[in-house]
Amino acid sequence: MRLEPWADAHFECFAAFMRDLDVIRWVRRAPLDRDRALELHERSLAEWDLYGFGKRAIIERETERWLGFAEISLVGPGKGSRDDDIEIGYFIEPGRWGEGIATEAALELRDEAFGRCALSELVGRCRVENVASARVLAKVGFRKLRLFELQDGAVVEIHHLRREQWAVAERGSLGFEDAPLALGGGYRETG
Ligand SMILES: CC(C)(COP(=O)(O)OP(=O)(O)OC[C@H]1O[C@@H](n2cnc3c(N)ncnc32)[C@H](O)[C@@H]1OP(=O)(O)O)[C@@H](O)C(=O)NCCC(=O)NCCS
Repeated sequence: MRLEPWADAHFECFAAFMRDLDVIRWVRRAPLDRDRALELHERSLAEWDLYGFGKRAIIERETERWLGFAEISLVGPGKGSRDDDIEIGYFIEPGRWGEGIATEAALELRDEAFGRCALSELVGRCRVENVASARVLAKVGFRKLRLFELQDGAVVEIHHLRREQWAVAERGSLGFEDAPLALGGGYRETG
């Protein structure tokens, strides 16, 4: 697969995708209508200009098929971590779950975030019920920080990974399991 920076060509797949109840189950209360999907699409295009990172379509190399999308994005307020935190997220076509696609996309985004984007820290958030998503985060080196109850009563897990931990694990001197301990592994809380 390859990850393509967000473009108008991805809109139709995205709009259809976000109406699929399996895709949105742990993320939204209701499917996205077309107008709202268009709003989010345009915001995603603008984010690339503003931050130099954002959503990417996941495309199967052999068939050119859309497999979903993955993103590096700002968390924003009221989500249980710092307002300026940056998170990774991934959404895969239900017919292709369990093939390792989210893990591969998350690895690429993690390396892009700490490499090309030079970010110092990443978070990952998922509903407690979303065990597959939490497993993806664990597989790419994140550690669970805490639980947080959103305004609507949904409980999310907040996971995090610091650049130093990634760098140490990348050099191969310590695994992700050991690197956080060796480096303090702290998360700077500012409310
Ligand atoms: C979460 C999601 C992205 C996982 O995608 P995926 O491509 O199936 O994930 P992978 O194949 O890389 O699997 C990752 C791990 O999760 C495990 N897993 C997958 N589905 C699982 C499930 N229902 N229960 C428990 N573990 C599960 C896999 O076995 C694998 O772990 P392993 O290698 O130790 O066996 C996918 O289910 C999805 O798109 N869900 C809807 C959107 C969503 O919730 N996104 C996350 C928002 S926080």
